[in-house]
Amino acid sequence: MSKVGIFFGPLNGSVNRVADKMKAALGEENVEMVSVNEAEVSDLERFDKIIFGISTVGKETWDSNYSNNDWNKFFPKISEANYSGKTIAIFGLGDHVTYAGHFVNAMGVLAKELMKNGATNIVGQVSTEGYEFEESEAVIDGKFIGLPIDEDFEPELTDKRIADWIEHIKPAFGL
Ligand SMILES: Cc1cc2nc3c(=O)[nH]c(=O)nc-3n(C[C@H](O)[C@H](O)[C@H](O)COP(=O)(O)O)c2cc1C
Repeated sequence: MSKVGIFFGPLNGSVNRVADKMKAALGEENVEMVSVNEAEVSDLERFDKIIFGISTVGKETWDSNYSNNDWNKFFPKISEANYSGKTIAIFGLGDHVTYAGHFVNAMGVLAKELMKNGATNIVGQVSTEGYEFEESEAVIDGKFIGLPIDEDFEPELTDKRIADWIEHIKPAFGL
């Protein structure tokens, strides 16, 4: 069976930690981890099942001068691949207290870019109930386009959020 590619970044932070937990929940043998720090368009093309993991660091993320973000480098490559026929899910790290007005925005920005490039099968939408925030670009048609995780202020909820979400998306990934 083809593997799920977990494209994540940056390395060594909250996204990385959550990505590792996702891998364990999906079954290590079903997953290949791909750091966006080193990934190429050809890596995106290798997978028909992809989970993206991204954090929001500044409301404009990769357009900003916050250079310590592996996604800065990778984001332009996103639009060079085509996602039609691929099954995709996204999780996003954010901070719902300090950045309530931009909560997990990067997840929404990424999703919109994927949709522009043929992604029609983004799975794993999450109800906004249970999250406190003011605004988020990641809310599309009334739901989060993927799974928001807040390791800064709600780390105690992370494991259950991951477990519930993985159970929910597994069938779409053929697992
Ligand atoms: C400079 C900076 C800007 C941030 N901006 C946002 C934001 O706009 N929205 C949000 O939800 N979280 C924001 N955060 C919180 C991070 O997304 C959060 O701490 C996340 O867990 C970081 O994960 P990482 O260490 O894997 O990058 C920001 C954090 C930093 C340091």
